[in-house]
Formats: sequence, C-alpha cells, structure tokens
Amino acid sequence: MKRSSTIYLDHASGTNLLPDVKDRISDWLDSGMTNPSSIHQDGRRSAATLDEARTSIAEILGCNSSEILFTSGATEANNLAILGTAEALRNKGLHIITCATEHPSVLESYKALEKNGFQVTYLNVDKNGDVDPEEFRASITDDTILASFMWVNNETGLMHPVEELAQIAQKRGIRFHCDAVQAFGHIPIQMQNSEIDSLALSGHKLGAPAGIGVLYLRKGQAISRTSFGGSQEQNVRAGTQNHMGGVALATAIKYHAGHLDVNAKKYDELSIHIEKQLKVLPGIQINRFGKQYTPNILSCSFRHIDGEALFIRLDMQNIAVSNGAACSSGSQAPSHVLTALGLDENLAQASLRISMGIETTRHEIDDFCRELKQIVTSIYREAK
Ligand SMILES: Cc1ncc(COP(=O)(O)O)c(C=O)c1O
Repeated sequence: MKRSSTIYLDHASGTNLLPDVKDRISDWLDSGMTNPSSIHQDGRRSAATLDEARTSIAEILGCNSSEILFTSGATEANNLAILGTAEALRNKGLHIITCATEHPSVLESYKALEKNGFQVTYLNVDKNGDVDPEEFRASITDDTILASFMWVNNETGLMHPVEELAQIAQKRGIRFHCDAVQAFGHIPIQMQNSEIDSLALSGHKLGAPAGIGVLYLRKGQAISRTSFGGSQEQNVRAGTQNHMGGVALATAIKYHAGHLDVNAKKYDELSIHIEKQLKVLPGIQINRFGKQYTPNILSCSFRHIDGEALFIRLDMQNIAVSNGAACSSGSQAPSHVLTALGLDENLAQASLRISMGIETTRHEIDDFCRELKQIVTSIYREAK
C-alpha cells in the first residue's frame, strides 16, 4: 500500500525553510522593500537591511562585511571564485588544481578553464575518498595559481582536511577556494585564522530559499568579474541583489551557528541509529570508509540490484532520497564520486544518498529502514 506522507531524506539536496526564515520572509513581504541600489528612501532602507544581513553573516564567519558577496547560489559562488581568480592571476601562471570528486559546479569551471588555456591537475582520491595532502603538495608547481577543494562531499558526507590543504596552498603562495556548502551547520567555520581565501555557501541547503548564496572573498584578493553590468557586491558581481534571499540566508546562517552543538548531537544519534539498521540489510555496502563524516549524510550501495528499480520503488512509496547527486538527476550516469571511490558502475548505480535534516526523527528513520528492507528483499526475491 502506498504511504500517504512522504519520508523525506533528501535534505542535502534541499531542505525546508526554517521557521525563523519563514517569519523573516513574511515580514519582508509586508515591508515594501525595493531595489537596494535605488537612492530614494525605500531603496536606502532596503540597502540598510541587506547590509545588516551581510554584517550578521560576516560576524558569524569571523570576517569583514565587505568580504561577503551575495550570489544566486553556490554554483555561481564557485564559478565566480574559480573563473574570476584564474583570470585575474593568468599572468602569474596557468596551472590549477582540484580533486576528482568535487561538485559539478567546481569541476565544470575547471573544464571551462582547461578549454581556455589552463592546465588542470585533477587529484584522485584514495580508497577512502580522501585527498592526500602530500599528493597535493607534490602537485604544486611554480606555475600553480589556484586550488579548490570541498570541505564535505555532498554525496558521501566525507570531510576533507581543508584547513591543512589551505595551509599548504598558503605556504606556496597559491589561492585556495573551498566549497563549504555541505559543511556549514555541521563544522564550525571561522575565517579569521583560516588560510582559505574564498568560500561558497548555498541558501537552500540551510533552510533559506533556493536562489541565494554567499561567496566569502578575502579582502585584497584579485578577482576578475564574470558578470557585467552594475557595480553591486563590491563591484564584483553585477545585478540587482536578491534582497529577500540575503535576509533569509542571514537568518538561516544565524540559526545554524547558534544550534551547531545541539544539532550535531541530534544528527550523531540519528546517524548511529540508521547505520545500525541499514548494515544488516541484504547486499548492502555502507560507503563510509574514511575518517570523518558529517552525520547527516549516509551513502550506501546494494550489490547485484538494479539501481533504477530500487529508486522507482522507493519513489512509489513516497520515499525521497537521492540516487547520486541531485544536481545531476535526470542523468543515469553512475556517480563520479562513487566510481572515484572504486565502486564499479553497477554498484555505483545501485546507490542511495540518505540525508537528514533538522526535522528528521527516529520514527521517520525506522519507517524508512522498514520500507527499504521490504523493497530490497522483494527485488532480490524476484531476481532469483
Ligand atoms: C557541495 C555542493 N556545492 C555546490 C552546490 C550547488 O549549490 P546551488 O544549488 O546553490 O547552486 C551543491 C548543491 O547541491 C552542493 O551540494
């Protein structure tokens, strides 16, 4: 029988608006805010609230408000940091480094630069999915200008040693960008004592709407524009700001900064609870091989199962999980992250990313595990 309510375990793709954010948006809808670049009173009022949002984010990240640029999301923030930095430093060198398991918004930026005369080193990950700092150090040449590594992998939840990687980059005088989309809210992120030069965040992973993101860009770092028009966002990112989005994102960031410990405890408990139930399922492999994972994301794969059939049956039961990165949904290509980990194509295709949010309960996890067990068991039985 079909469930009437959805079991939603796809929070790493996008999570519900936080109650504080809903309140803030509803105030905003009533406030008559206008274009923050307009110089009349309404415009100035909008500019002031956007600046408040910027200052609030900067205080939490431990940086200056002029170092916070609003963007349309993390894709744009990653694109801008990578393309803008490479272009600005082109006369210093043409070699840039990243890792094979980055998000497509990073990998595709590197591919675009490759077509534009840059030489790219795509570091492979070890059997745990991690980047080896020594390999990174060894890959840097006198021609290297930029490296980009994500803090937490969006498909597996693996935490990379980005602070160590950023220190290596800093010692060799190369710029370091970090996609921290899946890290914020799980790892304390402070820019003042960090060697990270730029960092991307996304609204809809944090309980703000989609269509808003932040690029932290360390003061004084050269960057070329990738959009042309007005002088908004420190003259780096042209276009009328998403005022409502900025206010909503600042609210979400404040919430997560204030609930880091309590949420970590909750996610740790849920993570232990789900892993305990999943690991006894037939044919399962839990894709946690490395040292540290954010507890909200769990990737698992099923041996000798048709991944599409599994996903369709879960969907028919109103169970929302991801079969790889949501950003590449629609494509049935096996996940580049899982294949980089050494999974063969079939196993990678028969994988689920289960991701929890602040609303997830033990009860929901229990329902999910029960349904998944039934589906997997029946697929194996039918295949006999
Ligand atoms: C690690 C990572 N980076 C970047 C993005 C892109 O973010 P946005 O949807 O805000 O463009 C995502 C979204 O899935 C992500 O998980």
